[in-house]
This record gives sequence, structure tokens and C-alpha cells, in this order.
Amino acid sequence: MKKNSALFFSLSYAIVCITLFSTSSIAQTSAKKVIISKPTESQIAEGKALIAKSDCLACHKLDIKLVGPSYKDVAKKYPATEANYKILSQKIISGGKGNWGEIPMVAHANVTLTDAKKMVQYILSIK
Ligand code: HEC
Repeated sequence: MKKNSALFFSLSYAIVCITLFSTSSIAQTSAKKVIISKPTESQIAEGKALIAKSDCLACHKLDIKLVGPSYKDVAKKYPATEANYKILSQKIISGGKGNWGEIPMVAHANVTLTDAKKMVQYILSIK
């Protein structure tokens, strides 16, 4: 009888340890995967102003598809992560097609990476 309860205790101790270990490692990996980044109000405002100054609004509107996708649709497709800021900033600078259709997005070689990132931070903050 005594032997059994000792076995029971060590077994349940092991189960508790395994559970604690696995939940903490799951929490860590999911935190690593999606780093939602929250830009500051001023980064968003600057991004909006940069877009207004550039030619973007000739092809993009806030919530209707024009030549390019609406910014709301872009924000729906891409969560606000550092990885997406990087991909989309590159796309603004280099141009490209294929994510929304066959009409290409023109390149903006004169836009800096810093400015492009602010534009993307604004776009992905649109709800
Ligand atoms: C001549 C029209 C045109 C102009 C000007 C334009 N775009 Fe686009 N944009 C497009 C098209 C078309 C697409 C869809 C490309 C695709 O299918 O991958 C697009 C896609 C995008 C995307 C999504 C990219 C992706 O890979 O999902 C972003 C973000 C974007 N544009 C931002 C901007 C910004 C910021 C500017 C101004 C600096 C701008 N665009 C100017 C036509 C334009």
C-alpha cells in the first residue's frame, strides 16, 4: 500500500512537470512566431502624410479597390508584424505583381526604406 502511494506521487509529480514544461515552451514558440508590433501614433501619422504626398492614392483608396487593392484589404491580409513591414516596404520600393492580380505595382525607387516602413505601419494599422 505504501509503495503504491509513493509511486502515485512520483507519477503525478512527473505529469505536473511535463505539463508545466510543455505549456511554457508552447507559449514561447508562439510568442516568437507572431511578433505583433505596435507603431507609435506619430509613425502612423507620418506614414499617412507620406502616402498623401506620394502618388499612392492614384491607385489605392482606403476601402474600395481601384487599380490596386484597398488599404483595408491589405491590412486584413497582413498582420502588423515586423516581417510584413519588411516585405511590403520592399514591394513599395521595388514594385511587383502577383499578390492581388496581374496588374503590377509601380516601383518607388525614390522612397527610402524608413519612409516605406512608416507607410506600411500606417496601412496595416487601418481597421
Ligand atoms: C500605378 C498604380 C499604383 C501606385 C501609384 C501605387 N500602387 Fe500599390 N499596388 C498597386 C497594385 C496594382 C498592387 C497589387 C500588386 C500585386 O498584385 O502584387 C499594389 C499593391 C500594394 C501593396 C500590397 C503589396 C502586396 O504584395 O500585397 C501595398 C502595401 C501598396 N501597394 C502600397 C502602395 C504605396 C504606399 C504606394 C505609394 C508610395 C503605392 N502602393 C502606389 C498599384 C499601385
